[in-house]
Amino acid sequence: MRAYELTGRLPRLRAVDRPGPAAPGPGQVVVAVQAVSLNYRDLLQAKGNAGLVPLSDGAGLVEAVGPGVAEWNAGDRVVAGFMPGWVEGPLTVAKKATALGGDGTDGMLAQHVVLPASALVRVPNGMSFEQAATLPCAGVTAWAALFERRAVQPGETVLLLGTGGVSIMALQLAKAAGARVIITSSSDAKLARARALGADEVINYRNTPDWAAEVLRLTAGVGADLAVDVGGPATLNTTLQAVRLDGRISLMGVLTGFDGPVDTAAILSRRITLQGIYVGPVAMLHALSRTGIEPVVDRVFQWDEAEAAYEALSGADHFGKLVIRKG
Ligand SMILES: NC(=O)c1ccc[n+]([C@@H]2O[C@H](COP(=O)([O-])OP(=O)(O)OC[C@H]3O[C@@H](n4cnc5c(N)ncnc54)[C@H](OP(=O)(O)O)[C@@H]3O)[C@@H](O)[C@H]2O)c1
Repeated sequence: MRAYELTGRLPRLRAVDRPGPAAPGPGQVVVAVQAVSLNYRDLLQAKGNAGLVPLSDGAGLVEAVGPGVAEWNAGDRVVAGFMPGWVEGPLTVAKKATALGGDGTDGMLAQHVVLPASALVRVPNGMSFEQAATLPCAGVTAWAALFERRAVQPGETVLLLGTGGVSIMALQLAKAAGARVIITSSSDAKLARARALGADEVINYRNTPDWAAEVLRLTAGVGADLAVDVGGPATLNTTLQAVRLDGRISLMGVLTGFDGPVDTAAILSRRITLQGIYVGPVAMLHALSRTGIEPVVDRVFQWDEAEAAYEALSGADHFGKLVIRKG
């Protein structure tokens, strides 16, 4: 079967011919991958992991089912969880180690994958494979950021940073939940697209470096109820100033790195709930698939354009998601 492997050098991929999947074992399903999507994580994983099949997120058709699999049949349209071993309940080290497309576990940039039946979720009727392929990481992460702990309530204000995959998914989900959304971007053109998707207020963070002050202005000095911080060290201290007293921040991003000083006094004196997000279980993918979300696919690349898709991701010109479709 055709697949791509990482070479350890971005954006170089190696097109390979790997043996096709063996007959599925007990509880397993063979999926013929139709579309995969890229996440920022895939850029990080591609800096090493030579020989690994990349990409965590894909959707496709069930091709064969192993003994004991009653819930799936050949031809079913499915999307797989980011961590096939995390079906529900608390995250454990063992469940975390099942994340696809990184740290020693092959991913979805292949013609076929073999997965546990319990890792699969039915693609909603009317949703394309390209859209479904965006749900496992960006979609579930956005869902977890908004709803897993203190769920967003109608009328609350949600602050979103940038217009990448997670933030645009969060924009759609927050609006569907009745929230008021403030979103930032480095690009006025992207902010116009965000407005068209329902964003109530927009801030260009290049032109307005003190975007926390602008959020306060837009909220009558109160601040956002919930912020989704995809930036990390270089944005968190500003985000802490942009949320209300007793507010909450869902932190999942490493766009500005992995380490940096944190304004701990702001966390305690403003009584902020700072919640770490690490994607979510298959149960959350089920919940997300029932929301009626229509993921925003910015661009679809053909199978032989996989390297161009990586280049587009690192160029960060995209709005929402980048997808590669089966040739
Ligand atoms: N922990 C988890 O579970 C989890 C899951 C998914 C993603 N993540 C992390 O979340 C982050 C976003 O992932 P993604 O896949 O959505 O990325 P993405 O699609 O590549 O998003 C890139 C966009 O982020 C915005 N951005 C970059 N630097 C920024 C900054 N300093 N301030 C505000 N916005 C900035 C830019 O938007 P504009 O062009 O509009 O300025 C850029 O286009 C990444 O760090 C990723 O690793 C974590």
